[in-house]
Amino acid sequence: MQIVRELDDLRGEVKKAKKEGKSIGLVPTMGFLHEGHLSLVRSASSQDDVVVVSVFVNPIQFGENEDYEDYPRDLESDLQKAREAGGDLMFCPRVADMYPPGYATFVEVERLTEGLCGANRPGHFRGVTTVVNKLFNLVEPDRAYFGQKDAQQALTIKRMAEDLNMNVEVRVGPVIREEDGVALSSRNSYLSPEERRAARVLYRALSKARDLVYIDKEYRVETVRQCIEDEVGGEPLAQLEYAEIVNGDDLSSISEVKGNVLIALAVKIGSTRLIDNMLLEV
Ligand code: PAF
Repeated sequence: MQIVRELDDLRGEVKKAKKEGKSIGLVPTMGFLHEGHLSLVRSASSQDDVVVVSVFVNPIQFGENEDYEDYPRDLESDLQKAREAGGDLMFCPRVADMYPPGYATFVEVERLTEGLCGANRPGHFRGVTTVVNKLFNLVEPDRAYFGQKDAQQALTIKRMAEDLNMNVEVRVGPVIREEDGVALSSRNSYLSPEERRAARVLYRALSKARDLVYIDKEYRVETVRQCIEDEVGGEPLAQLEYAEIVNGDDLSSISEVKGNVLIALAVKIGSTRLIDNMLLEV
């Protein structure tokens, strides 16, 4: 697997692939790859001739008091994992090349980014859509692959690609979980063994909410939300940031749990912020 750091070298590789009539799949990541990322690399590899995995810890999507500096990084291991999963090229640009002095352009998707994580992380999605737009321009992928764990991000990027007539198909892969239900995330590496056990509360709360809807036929949004709050409240190491039950297509508010519904939550376990979600068809 080839590593490319320079923007011009990347453009050269893209040009070569296009000339040979090869399709390009892009898996954008911030590295510290886990099975969630690798499942996307495998999907890309089964669909596209050339699979580009980008590894870039994007400073502009982190708030001032967030974990940009501490974000886990392990390029050697990423390279090996991505290669084994079918990646062809790893694109690791430098911050100074992505955002050189004088950089002044940002992309913002309205409405979809206002609630959920957007309400708690001002500027986060603006940073995400800006970097993803730049990656799309550089890599010119036919398809780009994102994980459903970041449900709001996936919907936001789909909206951006559609609204700005981008010539790319955005695909979304399922949440990948550990055996005990904890969703894979690079940030799980911050958790102590005790916190890792406590992190199970996210999936447990989502599962209880799902059962309340599917089995007990409880369709009142407030009651389902209360069930999540009670479950998370019962875990001493967990602090709920939000639990939202919204329309799964556009994240708008709903008055009852009917149709395509997204249940999403963000929970702090110690100082680590974790998110998870479940889509229900009711
Ligand atoms: O999901 C992520 O890892 C990041 O938000 C992304 C899409 C790679 C943009 O930096």
